[in-house]
Amino acid sequence: MANQLFRTKSLEVLLEEMKGEQRLRRVLGPVALTSLGIGCIIGTGIFVLTGVAAHDKAGPALMLSFVVSGAACIFAALCYAEFASMVPVAGSAYTYAYATMGELMAWIIGWDLVLEYAVASATVAHGWSAYFRDFIGLMGIQFPAQWAGGPFDITHDKGFFWTGQYFDVPAVIIAAIITVVLVIGIKESAGFNAGMVIVKVLIVLFVIVVGAFYVNPENWRPFAPFGYGGLFASGEPRGMLAGAAVVFFAYIGFDSVSTHAEEARNPQRDVPIGILVSLAICTLLYIAVAAVVTGMIPYDMIDIHSPVSNAFIQKGVTYAGILVSVGAIVGITSVLLVLMLSQPRVMLAMARDGLLPRSFFGAVHDKFRTPWKSTILTGVFVAFAGALVPLHILADLVNIGTLLAFVLVCASVLIMRKTHPKAERPFKVPLVPLVPILGIVFCLVLMGSLGWENWMRLGVWLAIGLIIYLLYGRGHSLMNTIREEKTALYDRQPSTYDKL
Ligand code: ALA
Repeated sequence: MANQLFRTKSLEVLLEEMKGEQRLRRVLGPVALTSLGIGCIIGTGIFVLTGVAAHDKAGPALMLSFVVSGAACIFAALCYAEFASMVPVAGSAYTYAYATMGELMAWIIGWDLVLEYAVASATVAHGWSAYFRDFIGLMGIQFPAQWAGGPFDITHDKGFFWTGQYFDVPAVIIAAIITVVLVIGIKESAGFNAGMVIVKVLIVLFVIVVGAFYVNPENWRPFAPFGYGGLFASGEPRGMLAGAAVVFFAYIGFDSVSTHAEEARNPQRDVPIGILVSLAICTLLYIAVAAVVTGMIPYDMIDIHSPVSNAFIQKGVTYAGILVSVGAIVGITSVLLVLMLSQPRVMLAMARDGLLPRSFFGAVHDKFRTPWKSTILTGVFVAFAGALVPLHILADLVNIGTLLAFVLVCASVLIMRKTHPKAERPFKVPLVPLVPILGIVFCLVLMGSLGWENWMRLGVWLAIGLIIYLLYGRGHSLMNTIREEKTALYDRQPSTYDKL
């Protein structure tokens, strides 16, 4: 009896979600969705991590690193697109797993998404700090070094050591500002986002077009000073694949398009378009930026903090350096805004399913109508991690966690094709099982190129998640009772689905 009550209620919740989706359907078309995707993609990855990837990992072969990483993302994006078209109610890997692979997998992906959103936000806050300091430096103001980085670092050469710095003040400030903005609740405006995206894309095009004039092909030789490998390295992974594993961060965010499925005019068609087109555009831009930056200056002279603007400074084109710095600050801010907005939403979804305490993660502010408690928690986490933990450690952790989520999404497409062959799929991954298998293989290769410490850190992260699940989620979950109905939804014919 109790189970039946729960079932009925869960269906009602779904009905409400579907109604909401129909109400909001007219707002976003394919162009707006693509621009939202680009808004979340272009940021710290291209403006900051390109530096360390070119300088320490791949050299000019960084261009190829972007191709490999982009390919992994395109395979995964096709799988995301299939799910997003099947489940346009609410979109994220957590929701897909929750409806397909069951509670434990859903929890693992949800916990993993904390890496993708909250830990990535901390990484992005660091990147923001680097460009902020770069910008004020160009204005003649030197930011005190002790207040521009965390107190420790861990590298292969030196192991653990103290840096002599205290914490990254600008990273804390930007995390605090974004948190306040999100708690007060700026209505996420597609128009505002489009403005920031235009600035970003123009700056990236500027880098490519103007930078091309300063390219000296000699700088592309040797093309791969560290080789093409990086897979299963015993020490610090170096080589083209190691570079690909680092710059993978630059692509993270395309899946955020799926979180806007509820506001899409025609989600089944436009969300896959938004995901795939934004990713395709960014892939092309990234390869071109990598070619230009490694062509402008020798790879071993590329700055590891603000490589793109610094390339112009080294060439004596100061105005371009300033312009790129400003563009990077705007671009990175927009990524931070979307990432920090997404995290509380994922936690809200998990709280609604009973996997996290509803009173905290489900709390909506009376006046501002925002999930204020989880937003503040996210902000505090981002500020602490951004202030204290080195950027490369955060970025690698985000990458390995997100790659795992992609592996699971690709795998769940294969599973769904077997278990629910008749379900309506407005967008279908082509060449199944080849594409999902390639997605899994590419993502595993990138994971294997991240160094064994990252596997350990991922293991610790997942173990902490498992403990939380066993102590809290398992006992409080509503999913055991509602999963059957949610899964059954996919087997209904379109007409039934529409009537719902
Ligand atoms: N792809 C996003 C960035 O590079 C997370 O900042």
